[in-house]
Amino acid sequence: MSDKGRIGVALVVFVVVMTAPIWYNLADGERAAFPTLSYPHEGGQCVEDTDYMRVNHMRLLMDWRDEAVRANDRIYTASDGRRHEKSLSGTCLSCHWEKEKFCDRCHDYIGVDPYCWNCHVDPM
Ligand code: HEC
Ligand code: HEC
Ligand code: HEC
Repeated sequence: MSDKGRIGVALVVFVVVMTAPIWYNLADGERAAFPTLSYPHEGGQCVEDTDYMRVNHMRLLMDWRDEAVRANDRIYTASDGRRHEKSLSGTCLSCHWEKEKFCDRCHDYIGVDPYCWNCHVDPM
């Protein structure tokens, strides 16, 4: 194969690889599209800012659980000074009451299934 031919093949492979997500989306839009999440319209800001929550909400909840259950320490002071009860259903779901369209939608998309709801209630 000539050098030009080899460059041509390399270029085609490169383009196919780089555009693979688009082909994938076209072939299976359902699975690739990130779901629309339902955000609370009232109740105010999240306990911490959105970027922090997106990455750290699971850790925050585990800390809340340990502190509440083991040390009976039930009040969380947020970085902006607001105070919240350390409660999964009582605090998180008081704003995110559309759990199915928020927590569950995102978890279903990524394929995680927190076992918390075996015991904790979804007020809805
Ligand atoms: C006072 C109401 C309120 C409480 C309490 C609250 N949230 Fe939020 N939360 C919000 C709002 C409003 C947003 C969206 C902020 C925005 O528009 O950027 C949000 C955003 C989030 C996000 C980020 C979503 C994304 O787009 O990535 C996660 C995750 C989250 N909350 C989880 C929780 C968890 C877990 C708790 C309990 C520890 C909690 N929230 C408590 C109001 C609340
Ligand atoms: C086997 C049952 C069970 C499971 C599963 C479970 N919990 Fe709990 N959780 C409890 C009990 C019982 C308490 C104590 C209730 C109290 O003292 O208010 C508690 C308390 C808590 C608290 C503090 C009090 C409150 O109202 O929320 C948090 C936060 C919490 N759990 C988070 C979680 C999270 C997050 C998960 C999933 C990763 C989870 N729990 C799974 C039984 C469970
Ligand atoms: C924007 C997407 C998104 C939203 C919205 C969201 N989560 Fe999560 N959640 C995640 C991701 C990502 C993980 C981590 C999965 C992993 O590490 O395997 C996770 C993990 C968790 C875990 C730990 C599960 C485990 O088995 O380790 C809990 C508990 C949890 N989320 C609770 C909630 C609650 C409660 C809400 C709604 C108030 C919520 N999440 C909303 C993305 C989200």
